[in-house]
Amino acid sequence: MNPKTPVCASYFQPKTLILGAIAASFGFLLGCSTTPEADPRPNWHEDIHPIIEGRCVGCHKPGGIGGFDLSTIVGAKAAGPAIKAVTAARTMPPWHAGPEQQYRGDPSLTDAQIKAIGDWVDSGMPAGDPANAAKPLEDVTEKLSRTDLEISMPVAYTPKNISDDYRCFLVDFPKDKETYVTGFNVLPDNRGVVHHVAAFLITTEALGGAGAMDTLAALDKKEVGPGYACYGGPSGAAKLIVPIQQLGQWVPGQLGTNFPDGTGIRVPAGSKIVIQMHYNMDFSEPGPDQTKMQFKLGAPDTIKRQGAFAPWLNAGWLGTTMKIPAGNPSVSHAHTADPRGFWKNFVGGVDVASGFVIHGGLLHMHTLGKWAEVYVTRSNGDKVFILRSPKYDFNWQRLYMLEKPVTFHDGDQLTVRCNWDNSSENQSKIAGKAPSAPKDVFWGEGSLQEMCVANLYISEL
Ligand code: HEC
Repeated sequence: MNPKTPVCASYFQPKTLILGAIAASFGFLLGCSTTPEADPRPNWHEDIHPIIEGRCVGCHKPGGIGGFDLSTIVGAKAAGPAIKAVTAARTMPPWHAGPEQQYRGDPSLTDAQIKAIGDWVDSGMPAGDPANAAKPLEDVTEKLSRTDLEISMPVAYTPKNISDDYRCFLVDFPKDKETYVTGFNVLPDNRGVVHHVAAFLITTEALGGAGAMDTLAALDKKEVGPGYACYGGPSGAAKLIVPIQQLGQWVPGQLGTNFPDGTGIRVPAGSKIVIQMHYNMDFSEPGPDQTKMQFKLGAPDTIKRQGAFAPWLNAGWLGTTMKIPAGNPSVSHAHTADPRGFWKNFVGGVDVASGFVIHGGLLHMHTLGKWAEVYVTRSNGDKVFILRSPKYDFNWQRLYMLEKPVTFHDGDQLTVRCNWDNSSENQSKIAGKAPSAPKDVFWGEGSLQEMCVANLYISEL
């Protein structure tokens, strides 16, 4: 008798025992313990860990912004059903661009990856064999290719112990010669609380620029503690209406943006920047933070086409035309025109006279925002999307850089359209205060006001 048979015997009824014995004597076994059972698929080591490590752990790790740890099977199993739900709904990893265009660094999961996660959760989340562990998916996140300048917040700041604290810091851009910003990244210091960061350029050349610097410096001095409060934009309570340029923006999970080769944003000598920090304390206790920004720079002779962040909005909205009536769950406002006249004061020296190239875009509303879109309409009626954000999320505003830039010519039109939900169900908690009854909302930088801006990174043709 084959000495292995008794081990099998306990698994088989008498009838199958005979079959088992025959099988064993022919040198193969019916799944008894003498051969390792093939690991069930999908399992953690072979199938799931590679996806989670490559697409989730950047944020879901100890101290990360995601709030819980997915770097080990223990953490992943604890969150199993939730992981299945958010991946099936495509709410994680965060990506708020519609499928009309292809963008750089898209981390979205494939249908097969989503199915694997669902099947794994449904089959009891088996570990598999670490010896068969597969390599993590390659991280698709774009990284800043070079750092030429780091600018830190001037001092550490400890955010207030409220859900969201928006704080701005005015700092010098430390270059005594004209230069160009060609890429941008943020090194968050206190990762648990840094939620969103943007940098704005203030030049003395811009309309009202020198005055704006003085106004903001005075605001900073007047407020207790470093910096000043600023919710919807860099001007805080000063409500400046000066053309302030964005230089870059960052949300967790990003490792930097490189502007397309040969393009860059001109920074004249003597400029200042406003660092706008959005801190969120939902997952962490407030602690000191001194975040740094990294810039890639280009000498003037390396820039073939000057670039800029060009905001597209209806100047008329700054009055009371962008009304979002109380109680209305779906209000849209749109603006369509050739933007070049409006941009005269905004894109500082970028020559758009014969057309321009749109390399990417970002959509900005406040917390009532539901969806938004920005697109070019050709003279023959064809619509070319720059960005559509079907489920807008105030917390995940970021720049989406097109794989293939879109060119704007004479006869084309640019549209930005925003949609808001001002029903009582959609009032959010701002600065720790409980939601209140809906009110008519108009344009403004305040947390109880709204905006609708498409901020496009453009360059000369
Ligand atoms: C860029 C950072 C980032 C990445 C990448 C990311 N998450 Fe998240 N995740 C968050 C944050 C932040 C939250 C907290 C809620 C929010 O802000 O949306 C969250 C929340 C969640 C939640 C809880 C959702 C809820 O409704 O409470 C789950 C589950 C989750 N993530 C799973 C995943 C999985 C699975 C992946 C990868 C496929 C992933 N996340 C990738 C940042 C990230």
